[in-house]
Amino acid sequence: MTVLTTFIGTSNHGFAQYAQDEIRKLFPAAKFSLIVPTEVFWFQVPPETENALGTLLEQEPIFLRHLQPVHQTWEHTSSEEDLRQVQVWLREAHAAGLAGAHEKIAVQIRKDERVQLPYAPFAMKAALDEVIAGELGAEPVVRYADKIISVYIGAKTLYIGISRPADNLSDWSGGAIRFMKEEDQISRAKFKLLEAEQRFGIDFSVARTALDVGAAPGGWTSLLLERGLKVTAIDPAAMSPKLQGHPKLTILKKNAGDVKLRNDEFDLLVCDMSWDPRQMGRLVADLLYALQSGGTAIITVKLMHKKPFQTVRDILRILEPSLFLLKAKQLFHNREELTLYLQKL
Ligand SMILES: C[S@@+](CC[C@H](N)C(=O)[O-])C[C@H]1O[C@@H](n2cnc3c(N)ncnc32)[C@H](O)[C@@H]1O
Repeated sequence: MTVLTTFIGTSNHGFAQYAQDEIRKLFPAAKFSLIVPTEVFWFQVPPETENALGTLLEQEPIFLRHLQPVHQTWEHTSSEEDLRQVQVWLREAHAAGLAGAHEKIAVQIRKDERVQLPYAPFAMKAALDEVIAGELGAEPVVRYADKIISVYIGAKTLYIGISRPADNLSDWSGGAIRFMKEEDQISRAKFKLLEAEQRFGIDFSVARTALDVGAAPGGWTSLLLERGLKVTAIDPAAMSPKLQGHPKLTILKKNAGDVKLRNDEFDLLVCDMSWDPRQMGRLVADLLYALQSGGTAIITVKLMHKKPFQTVRDILRILEPSLFLLKAKQLFHNREELTLYLQKL
């Protein structure tokens, strides 16, 4: 088995070049090759690089949604023979100590949509699961795995690797985290906050009072209410009738620039205003007197000018006198935007 210096990176559609820029900053001699334009790419850091994975995890690139290790590559046959070859690889990986008995092992197969294969990706998962259960004495699982076997089937090449879920940045295949749409869900925007909760490991229940700026129609507000918080929602637009009269909700049907709040009234501030980032930053900065010291903020930042790093720098310059950045990440449910997670000093 080779030393781990080769990976497949995945970003949201249209953002791979930014993820590559961030990786190049960490490893100036890294080599890249696109697998799916603007979205999926192979990269390799120089073989002498020490602990490339550790560096990527510690200084996680904003636009890198998912990372999968490449332990081996070969030219696939585009036939059922591929299924046998991945089984052979897994036996060898097991012999080399990469996959152990009694482990819970998930298999994630992705392929370039342009590649035609005579078998479904699921058949490859079944072939690997057969070896996991039958020969390794391990347990095939879908979620909550100890290890993930990641396969990517490109135009000609098959890439395979095995890793701990945390090393992939997301335990969802390609980082494409899915939530069940609820029957009475107020807005799809709720998925963004659900994803932020998971990705940043936030326990909303430790907060008691939240300010939701740009709250209508109320997807984020509904999640915070479900988590037991008291919420003040600000928006000149109407909140969903499903939320009206909720005992823990105060609605201020106003522009956020026109509200008067009490000092240190909230321990969480969220803002999902689809607005010019600098104006939004100034508006949020003017409301920070209402956020307690140690309180946190989750803010989506619209990427309007195709200069995302400059946009992040600009908005942090506005917010950083009072807030410090815990994490910036483009989430799977972010479209032309990214999410900041900050804390008040
Ligand atoms: C993308 S929507 C928010 C969706 C919401 N997070 C949800 O989960 O349903 C953006 C909202 O920001 C509001 N907004 C824009 N500018 C605002 C301002 N200056 N003050 C308050 N709200 C504003 C808009 O009226 C709009 O309802």
